[in-house]
Amino acid sequence: MCGIVGYTGKQKAAPLILEGLKRLEYRGYDSAGVAVPAGDHFNVAKKTGRVANLETIAARHKLLGHCGIGHTRWATHGGVTDANAHPHVSSDGKIALIHNGVIENFTSVKKFLLEKGFTFQSETDTEALCNLVAYHYAKEAMVEGDSRLLESVRKTLRHIEGTYGIVVLSLDMPDELVCARKGSPLILGIGDGENLVASDVSALVSRTQNVVYLKDGELARLTPDSFSLSTINEGEIEAVIDTVTWSITDAEMGAYAHFMEKEIFEQPLALENTMRGRFSEDGSTALFGGLNLSAAEFRQIDRFMFCACGTAWHACLVTEHLIERFARVPVEVDYASEFRYRNAPLHPNTLFFFMSQSGETIDTLAALREAKRKGFRVLAVNNVVGSTIARETDGGIYQHVGPEIGVASTKAFTSQLLIGAMMALYIGRMRDMSFSDGAAYVAALKGAPDLVRTVLQQAPHIRKIAERFSTYTDMLFLGRLSLFPIALEGALKLKEISYLHAEGYPAAEMKHGPIALISERCPSVFFVTKGEMFPKVVSSMQEVKARKGLIIAICTEGLELPDGLADELIVIPDCHEAVLPIVATIPVQLLSYYIAVNRGCDVDKPRNLAKSVTVE
Ligand code: AGP
Ligand code: GLU
Repeated sequence: MCGIVGYTGKQKAAPLILEGLKRLEYRGYDSAGVAVPAGDHFNVAKKTGRVANLETIAARHKLLGHCGIGHTRWATHGGVTDANAHPHVSSDGKIALIHNGVIENFTSVKKFLLEKGFTFQSETDTEALCNLVAYHYAKEAMVEGDSRLLESVRKTLRHIEGTYGIVVLSLDMPDELVCARKGSPLILGIGDGENLVASDVSALVSRTQNVVYLKDGELARLTPDSFSLSTINEGEIEAVIDTVTWSITDAEMGAYAHFMEKEIFEQPLALENTMRGRFSEDGSTALFGGLNLSAAEFRQIDRFMFCACGTAWHACLVTEHLIERFARVPVEVDYASEFRYRNAPLHPNTLFFFMSQSGETIDTLAALREAKRKGFRVLAVNNVVGSTIARETDGGIYQHVGPEIGVASTKAFTSQLLIGAMMALYIGRMRDMSFSDGAAYVAALKGAPDLVRTVLQQAPHIRKIAERFSTYTDMLFLGRLSLFPIALEGALKLKEISYLHAEGYPAAEMKHGPIALISERCPSVFFVTKGEMFPKVVSSMQEVKARKGLIIAICTEGLELPDGLADELIVIPDCHEAVLPIVATIPVQLLSYYIAVNRGCDVDKPRNLAKSVTVE
């Protein structure tokens, strides 16, 4: 979950590493640290809290070297203390290391090392790994220069169980970085007279657009002028250099107060980018270039299974609704973390989709591997190009919304909803959806960005509503059918960034329990749409009103609500069923954003969370 940056080149390493860490802070932000070799010792600065704290103390250290490593931590083993912050230095002082992940057998490794005389300064699992590298490094004393550190790391990793992305420095070779990954992302940045490594491309793009995505089980050795790749068990392998398509300005906040705000307002453009080039020439269906599955093969599928976590799971629930509604094919949705362990009986002709913005969520990755192990074909919906999930699937759909930095997912969510809607169209048109229904559906999807623009214009109105409700401590979100997952998403957004207690339910379920929460202190957000659900939802609202509950109604235009039923009204455009979940999401994103701002919360870096969850 943490951020990793390593640099070797001609520039002073520490300022570049600190800049990279700031860009990665959204990946984990308990504490941060940086280390550079300084002759006979490592110069290490580390501090709990944000990278800004580290910057202050780093200025006092003489971090002068041209090679170094830096880390932002998301604690798994040991509290959030300066001592537990990375980098860790081995007790013989020779090796410095940063680590993302969890070392599962660290207790036995630590016991072994204590017996060998190594000592420990922290409670982390990482320090055991660092000392084990030092142990092997001492034993490899006979190995000549270049490969000594690499071989020590290789030997160490053969004894390690768990997940890691690591970068290692030795005092003897002060311009050399050795890194390795298993289960945690690492990307090499190949520069001119300098090379970098990071856990996320955003820390590299200010220096280079040329990257190498390390795969699980691979190691790399970097010097200013060279890089080489090898595997844990075998020798050198060839590297494939990819080019990053976005630039540093895509990952900057511009005039906005928070990344979340920027990303909410970017959604019309993000939706346009998601759709671009993905409709057939006759304008009646969707096209996906990367599925690696012919239409004939797709046609044979009897059932779809979607696995994801958090917000992406909500997008899967909407997709389930749309595919079942428009293509009439059964869909199942599971939390990736549950799917992996529950060993569910699976229909043989099932196609799996794994939805993940980051493409690095370990629960989703583990579920994917489980489905593969069982012999199923697996596809993915991802935003981050080259992510682990994208690389391990048989094909998939990229979201193309650019980097999402705010921990609370917004533009990635609506883009996933759009892809879900396009999949329903694609599958529907292979079955019983007519040409004209398909064409109307495509036209509606193409109109989605403008509808989102219209809703965004209501931001000042929603901001006022947020002011009124930001002192409450509980809130219910209630919707039906495809808007039930949007109710879940609204509640999750509010919990995540404003620390209010919020729950999402299908509106009719309220009377089976949550109604006990209703009082003048617990407002409800209702999604109200036309059609057969309208009178039902109005009845649920009446039940809330009868118990003195305040109501914020997010209502499609043209509906008349009984007088006085809604205390606050947000009108959204009436639109095609496939577009409605996207349009209905915008008000709840804005509501949670403004409530969090009013409450003085750290919107982009909410407590205890991290952008991509790479531990189980
Ligand atoms: C979203 O606001 C959350 N921070 C979180 O639920 C997130 O959606 C989840 O961790 C899955 O992430 P992914 O899409 O990168 O796999
Ligand atoms: N397990 C390590 C720790 O707790 C690394 C955590 C991380 O990925 O940031 O220090």
